Amino acid sequence: MSVSRRVPAGSQTPAPTQAGQYPAVRMRRNRKADWTRRLNAETRLSVDDLIWPIFLIDGQTARVPVAHMPGVDRVNVAEAVREAERAVALGIPAIAPFPYVDPGLRDATGSEAVKAQNLMGRAVAAIKRAVPQLGLITDAALDPYTSHGHDGLLADDGRILNDATIEVLCKQALALAEAGTDCIAPSDMMDGRVGAIRAALDGAGFGDVQIMSYAAKYASGFYGPFRDAIGSNATLKGDKRTYQMNPANSDEAMREVALDIAEGADMVMVKPGMPYLDVVQRVKSTFGVPTYAYQVSGEYAMLMAAIKNGWLDGERVIPEALLAFKRAGADGILTYFAPEIAKRLKAGH
Ligand code: PBG
Repeated sequence: MSVSRRVPAGSQTPAPTQAGQYPAVRMRRNRKADWTRRLNAETRLSVDDLIWPIFLIDGQTARVPVAHMPGVDRVNVAEAVREAERAVALGIPAIAPFPYVDPGLRDATGSEAVKAQNLMGRAVAAIKRAVPQLGLITDAALDPYTSHGHDGLLADDGRILNDATIEVLCKQALALAEAGTDCIAPSDMMDGRVGAIRAALDGAGFGDVQIMSYAAKYASGFYGPFRDAIGSNATLKGDKRTYQMNPANSDEAMREVALDIAEGADMVMVKPGMPYLDVVQRVKSTFGVPTYAYQVSGEYAMLMAAIKNGWLDGERVIPEALLAFKRAGADGILTYFAPEIAKRLKAGH
């Protein structure tokens, strides 16, 4: 029905009660009270949407704070088990552990990454033993393990070697699967790694291990605090622009996601989160696959810095920032706020 056809011929002013327009239509009616705002909410944040990234350290010290991420600590294996139990108690479906690897164990080829008994392997096994129902999502990437801080193998001329890196990533994925991980998350942005890891997992009898690919991962300044947490800011030579995506691009993200799906990714991720909500929305509406966003360390740091200063109200902005991911179409969010927000959701606010 066209609105203009309902206006009497020759009439210049629309009838006051004309349907589809003010004053008959008043958008504020549905916002007049809490009950109606709740009824009319289009998206909701639930504990089921949360993936909690945690940082691991080796040794006897239970907790070491992460600089620039107030409230986030690196935890040893025993403490990681307690964090995992906490996640289960809060109803968080999955955690994503990342290791701070002893600098003495880092080398040019990231050889520690493929060892079954490395920090990640021990943590994954211990967590699986304690809380088998908790999802474990673990990165395939070499940056915590390499002396040069890159996600892949570095040639003498400074190039990152794609295909040689994939071979190591497959071994890393198998070591993690052996330890009991539920899901491999390739975060390295090498071409073809999803298909190779899928084949390696299937070939070794790990057909049930999922792949959540960092499909559209941008070369971002927002990873700074994470790199402090895993100690790769100190080691990183140069930048990651030859493998991570140019922040200017969105069509390219569609191609990356299409390739990862074709190669067997079960779930895809966009990273960072808030500055890339347009990409999240495009991925979800184009492919309709399980789509995740990573609210990265720099996003956490920005919010926490402002909250600590009293410049922003954390009670308001944390849930608002997370809800934005749901509105954009994300099925879930990797967020360092996971335990905090899960606690609040449990308390009913
Ligand atoms: C490693 C990896 C990074 C993050 C997750 N996996 C950093 C990077 O690519 O340099 C970033 C997460 C964050 O900033 O919170 N491949």
